[in-house]
Amino acid sequence: MRHHILLVLHLLAASIWVGGHLFLSIRFLPEAIKKRDASILKNFKGKFEPVGMPSLLILVITGIMMAYDFDVTFTKWFSFSNAIEKVVSTKLILLLTTMVMAICADIFVFPKLKSDRLLPASLLIITVTVIGVTLLILGSLVRIGGF
Ligand code: HEM
Repeated sequence: MRHHILLVLHLLAASIWVGGHLFLSIRFLPEAIKKRDASILKNFKGKFEPVGMPSLLILVITGIMMAYDFDVTFTKWFSFSNAIEKVVSTKLILLLTTMVMAICADIFVFPKLKSDRLLPASLLIITVTVIGVTLLILGSLVRIGGF
C-alpha cells in the first residue's frame, strides 16, 4: 500500500512535469517563435515554476523511496549491476542533467532572452522535454523488469 501511494504521487508529479514541458514545447514555443515574442516563454516560466519545481522534488523523493523498495539503495547507485538498478541510475543521471539545465536556464539563458534570439532557449526547452519523456519511458520499464 505504501509503495502504491508513492507511485500515485510519482505519477501525479510526472504528469505535471512532463505534461507542462510537452505543452510548452508543442503550444507556447512555436507561438513564441512565430510571433518572435520572448515574453510568451518568460510568462510561461514564471507561471510553471511554482508548480513544476515542487513536482520535480516530489519525483526525486518518491522515486528514491520506491527504488529502495526494489532494493536499489544508495550504495548500489551507478553500479549498473542489475536491470532495475540500471533504470534507477540512468534516471538519476538524467535528473541531474535536468537540474543542471534548469540552473543554466536561470543564470545564462532566460536573463539574456530576447525576441530576436530564441534559439538557445528553444534548444533548452526541447532537450528538457525529451529528457522528461525519456524518464517517463524508463519508469514504465520497471514493471517489466528493467533493461
Ligand atoms: C522527471 C523525472 C521523472 C519522471 C517523469 C518519472 C516518471 C515515471 C513513470 C511514468 C513511472 C511509471 C510507473 C508505472 O509503471 O506505473 C515511473 C516509475 C518509477 N520511477 Fe520515476 N520518474 C522520474 C524520476 C525518478 C527518479 C529520480 C527516480 C529514482 C531515483 C525514479 C524512480 C522510479 C521507480 C523506482 C519507478 C518504478 C515504480 C514501480 O513500478 O513500482 N523516478 N517513473
